[in-house]
Amino acid sequence: MEVIVLPTPADTAALAADIIERLLTTKPDPVLGLATGSTPGPLYEELTRRNKEAGLSFAHARAFMLDEYVGLPVGHPESYAAVIQREVTDRLDIPAGAVRGPNGAAEDLLAECALYERAILDAGGIDVQIAGIGSNGHIAFNEPGSALTSLTRPKTLNARTRQDNARFFASLDEVPKHVLTQGLGTIGRSGHLLMLASGEGKADAVAKAVEGPLSAACPASIVQLHRHATVLLDEGAASRLTLREYYDDIWANRPAWQPL
Ligand code: F6R
Repeated sequence: MEVIVLPTPADTAALAADIIERLLTTKPDPVLGLATGSTPGPLYEELTRRNKEAGLSFAHARAFMLDEYVGLPVGHPESYAAVIQREVTDRLDIPAGAVRGPNGAAEDLLAECALYERAILDAGGIDVQIAGIGSNGHIAFNEPGSALTSLTRPKTLNARTRQDNARFFASLDEVPKHVLTQGLGTIGRSGHLLMLASGEGKADAVAKAVEGPLSAACPASIVQLHRHATVLLDEGAASRLTLREYYDDIWANRPAWQPL
């Protein structure tokens, strides 16, 4: 696990975009893992800029979303499928059919989750997984108490997560109670986990995930278990880390032979 602290979310987005650009330009069949929410917004903007202005192509890429609400009508503007279409598929040259998410409107949700997990494996696995972190330590929609080896499955949202996400809906009542989410085991299989966080509101969760015990009580602590995890933080999100000086020292003295 490497923790990198940069001044602003635009800086962390640029570094994350460098990692994704390297994947896209070196692998003939790259597979991305996409997160939703506010955190990846600057990264998707930077990837869009590189696509439009610097010719970075996504035409050969495929992508899998982390999660989806259950119970929203198909096409609901806050369904994660609609958000990813607006923020990613409509802006980049990635073929629409190459971006897939778990279908929260499926009749048989358990069968849908098994199919989704299979589809990720059939694609050869996710090369670079983008993730945020919830203020309660969730990653994807793996809420506190999630099994560390879990695969894609339905989950019940924690009250705090519903409260946090109420800003996207007209009222708290409209926030779905259930979701489908990649599991912690699914995320653990990805080739490279990029966890991004910005703002002081995430500082506690980040400190627990990065420096606390590996525990289902803080699902994002699986960054400690991942073979290749990069945690990209702005100053606010990094403000409660105790090893901050060491992380800065590693970054300042990074040898050229050590890839991100
Ligand atoms: C979204 C997701 C969630 C968010 C998390 C942080 O696909 O999986 O785990 O990353 O809730 O959300 P924001 O970025 O809105 O603070």
